[in-house]
Amino acid sequence: MTHAFGFSPDENRVQDFYRNFEKYRTTPLLLETLPGGTPFWIKDETDRMGMGAFKAVGGIYAVAKLVQERIWTATENAPRLEDLYTEKVREFASDLTFVCASAGNHGMAVATGARLIGAKARIYLSNAVSKRFGDRLTAAGAIVVRAGEFYDDSVAAALQDAEESGAILLADGSWENYTHPPSLVMEGYTIIAHECETEFRKSGRWPSHVYLQAGVGGIAAATALMIRKNWDQQPEIIIVEPDAAPCLRESARAGKLVTVEGPLSNMGRLDCKEASLIAFEALQQCEVSYEILTDEEAFSAAQDLQAFKLRTTPSGAAGFAAMRRSAQHRSPDFQPLVFVTEGPES
Ligand SMILES: Cc1ncc(COP(=O)(O)O)c(C=O)c1O
Repeated sequence: MTHAFGFSPDENRVQDFYRNFEKYRTTPLLLETLPGGTPFWIKDETDRMGMGAFKAVGGIYAVAKLVQERIWTATENAPRLEDLYTEKVREFASDLTFVCASAGNHGMAVATGARLIGAKARIYLSNAVSKRFGDRLTAAGAIVVRAGEFYDDSVAAALQDAEESGAILLADGSWENYTHPPSLVMEGYTIIAHECETEFRKSGRWPSHVYLQAGVGGIAAATALMIRKNWDQQPEIIIVEPDAAPCLRESARAGKLVTVEGPLSNMGRLDCKEASLIAFEALQQCEVSYEILTDEEAFSAAQDLQAFKLRTTPSGAAGFAAMRRSAQHRSPDFQPLVFVTEGPES
């Protein structure tokens, strides 16, 4: 495997950062059994750092790294990433505003990252995102701006804001000539695969298959790349998308990024009609396959995860939904890993 051009993460500096980050804890890796007897692992991201979703580890890290880079540019001397949360840095960061679009969780991560370091955040939400999410973002200190019906409308609005205001655009998606900030978001996500790797290595048992749900593809690409690079035993990797927005599958088929069309999905965080360029490129290197899900499958999977004491949304349950659908056709050594990527909305 070669490294993807726009995304060559340094997972070690992420681990150094989080080792020193007060709120950081490894999330649970649960070993469970399906009703038919298939054992499987769940990486439980429902309460990541008290923020309710895995996205916390991307946005917080990226904000810190971008502030460090700005200090470096201004003074040619910057504190280590692990030493950034100081009054002096807060003073510097108080002039900075981060702008992004979000289906909810990335916005929370950026708002929290900005608040912790003393910067401001302005988050664009489409009308598909719940009022509750908007309220949580406001409570996290961000200014919330509503824009359009679809996630992709809010992406365009955030871009326009950054161009007009000079604020720092910290998108979780990427496109031609805009790759650095989203590559840092994805670099932050590498801690999740590292946590899994550590536990699998300790037990000597590794998953046969890994199911990764995708919106723009950030977590899927970061995790797939880390698996291919670092894990002792290589699983099959399956990328899971809503049938309303299979942007990565269609891009893989076309060999280039394509925009898909479709209705709104109940998997709101996965309902992205255009994939991230660097995530797409990285996945091209990782030998993955694709599965799509209906809204009904994702909805019932979220309900059924309650049997494992997990409360989540259709987006959070999508990997589990695809896994259990295929479990009956798999061989006896099928022992998959799924990610429950967020907690419930209420
Ligand atoms: C809960 C949840 N799961 C999965 C995803 C998909 O992540 P990505 O957009 O990086 O593909 C998101 C994105 O917002 C999310 O919030």
